[in-house]
Amino acid sequence: MTDVTQVPAVAGIDLTDVDLFARGEHLDALARLRADDPVHWNEGADGSRFWALTKYDDVQWAYREHELFSSSRGAIVGGSLQSSDDTAAGRMLVVTDLPRHRLLKQVIQPALSSAVLSAVSAQVGALVDRAVQRLVEAGGGDFATEVATELPAGALMTIMDISHEDAHQLIRLTRRMVGYRDEVFVDTGDDTRLRLAWLQAEIFDFFEDLLAQRRRRPGDDVVSRLARSRINGRLLETDEILYNCLNLAVGGNETSSYTACTGLLALMENPAQYDRLLADHELLGTALDEVLRWSSTNAYVQRVAKRDVERRGRQIRAGDSVTVWNVSANRDADQFPDADAFDVGRTPNRHLSYGSGIHRCIGAPVAQAELGLLFRRLLTAGVRCELAGEPRRLRSNFMLGLTSLPVRVARAG
Ligand code: HEM
Repeated sequence: MTDVTQVPAVAGIDLTDVDLFARGEHLDALARLRADDPVHWNEGADGSRFWALTKYDDVQWAYREHELFSSSRGAIVGGSLQSSDDTAAGRMLVVTDLPRHRLLKQVIQPALSSAVLSAVSAQVGALVDRAVQRLVEAGGGDFATEVATELPAGALMTIMDISHEDAHQLIRLTRRMVGYRDEVFVDTGDDTRLRLAWLQAEIFDFFEDLLAQRRRRPGDDVVSRLARSRINGRLLETDEILYNCLNLAVGGNETSSYTACTGLLALMENPAQYDRLLADHELLGTALDEVLRWSSTNAYVQRVAKRDVERRGRQIRAGDSVTVWNVSANRDADQFPDADAFDVGRTPNRHLSYGSGIHRCIGAPVAQAELGLLFRRLLTAGVRCELAGEPRRLRSNFMLGLTSLPVRVARAG
């Protein structure tokens, strides 16, 4: 483990400070790190200690070097979905290393096949049409709670074969878990680890019920698929099934809806770019990539070093936590000219919002379909959204999103 007394930290920056993110000041802090301390040793006020990689090249390097950087410590530092004594490691896709990762992925990937993707698109398309129509008829509303959550709802209804009501119930649960440090979702007064364990248990209860139903009456949905899948001839154990349901739900519910909110806010805050897109819908493809880069909803991922390694003169020791900052890599001017400009025509745009390497998001095609349907609908509805109140940021350094986005709807053009 790194001897913390040997490593100077950039004064005043603590990437575990969720208020930095809630106030929207994290981009400045990350820009300082990229410039002055790109391999930064972070000493969190919460007691966590980890490296933070903030340059695009270093982030890509860490993603590529999966033999050097293990995923087994869990997604979040300092009281995480999992922790250093992570019980999900080796069982849940995102925190499993090779070779088991490959076998688990072969089980899960067919649940997101092109046939499933078509069905997801049909379902999401119908929900989005209705939600946008309601928004237009009402002259506005809270885009975050009334429109954006229909994206994961449509995906869950199809991938898990559950009702609209159950999908929203599941979204409420995952939203509480991801928002475990935000008083809008939970009572933040009690112990963080206990709270997280409790929030995870709520989701497991949901999936245990669903799994029992699917064992009685199997179908083609992902839960039934996991229940009948074998790895090396052995059926998956119940907790492996539950962990991977959790992975799909947490991986897909907040990410796509929060990305939609940050994307719409970017358009409203950059009216010339909004005009450009309204005038030329052909730009939707590059605009979606830019929305992904701009939002960087999954701010970072965590790895743990398996061996000592040096990077930019810093000595990372075996056993150290290493965080890989997508949100910073996506603003790195060495990779993206004029990186702080929101440009719906930006190309090339090799953003890292879905990660990279063996753990690159398997839900990316689903997210692309969801976001494409929503933004196309917003562009073709003949209206323009305008900010009608203060947007509220989620209190998290891991998931960047808006819990509220009040908009009014005006005639376009
Ligand atoms: C805009 C939307 C999304 C973003 C920004 C996003 C981001 C990410 C990132 C950064 C990773 C890499 C994690 C790592 O390397 O440790 C990842 C993995 C993953 N995502 Fe997504 N995701 C999105 C949508 C989805 C959706 C819709 C689903 C499910 C339907 C999903 C399911 C997963 C799963 C299961 C993994 C683990 C893959 C593996 O370990 O091989 N994601 N996602």
